Amino acid sequence: MNIIIFGPPGAGKGTQSKFIEKKYNLLQLSTGELLRNEIKNKTQLGLEISSIINSGDLVSDEIVSKLIEKYISDQQNKQRLIFDGYPRNIDQAKNLDKLLKKYNQRIDIVLKLSVSLETIKKRITERKSQEQRTDDSDEIAIKRFKTYELSSEPVLDYYKQSNLLKVINGENTISEINVEISGLIDAIKG
Ligand code: AP5
Ligand code: MG
Repeated sequence: MNIIIFGPPGAGKGTQSKFIEKKYNLLQLSTGELLRNEIKNKTQLGLEISSIINSGDLVSDEIVSKLIEKYISDQQNKQRLIFDGYPRNIDQAKNLDKLLKKYNQRIDIVLKLSVSLETIKKRITERKSQEQRTDDSDEIAIKRFKTYELSSEPVLDYYKQSNLLKVINGENTISEINVEISGLIDAIKG
């Protein structure tokens, strides 16, 4: 099963991905985490992208596409990926379709976590003290939210057409959302 988990910054994509990963023996593919690792390891790519991440903009489609193809092309991951934070614009959604076709795979479900900006700000402020993410200041978090509204939200229409989209109230507790997501996944697993 390949899953897309979608939503604004702080919606709980990472939190829920980690739960699904364990429960269904899948692999979380968080483009944000992969990019932060490049920065942490001071790679050439990390040096190129750190200012973009810290401005709340999106890294180029080409860079993320290369990162995800590495995972999609690996036979061990076939039909068992959780796309956390990808695709983030229409071109990425089209590119993902192309890659999935190339490696004879498909998306089974798109989970969208809905949360208000107020909740996002609260969660990101709390997380800042735990994870020290450099893009978690109030100012950059708002910029990330704006980038989401502008570039990423249109992706939802793309998946609405294919009937894969399930919208979840991300304001609920972590465990309530766990239960809801499990129900949705179990229903399509049959
Ligand atoms: P990315 O790392 O994907 O960041 P994001 O989308 O802004 O989302 P977050 O990771 O901040 O939030 P989350 O939804 O995972 O929430 P979490 O579970 O942590 O991307 C970072 C940057 O990388 C982008 O800005 C961009 O520059 C670049 N990038 C990444 N992907 C890209 C792409 N495809 N193309 C181009 N550029 C890309 O939860 C947040 C907090 O809330 C946690 O502390 C958690 O414990 C808590 N929490 C979670 N759920 C609940 C709940 N239900 N109730 C209460 N608290 C909760
Ligand atoms: Mg995340």
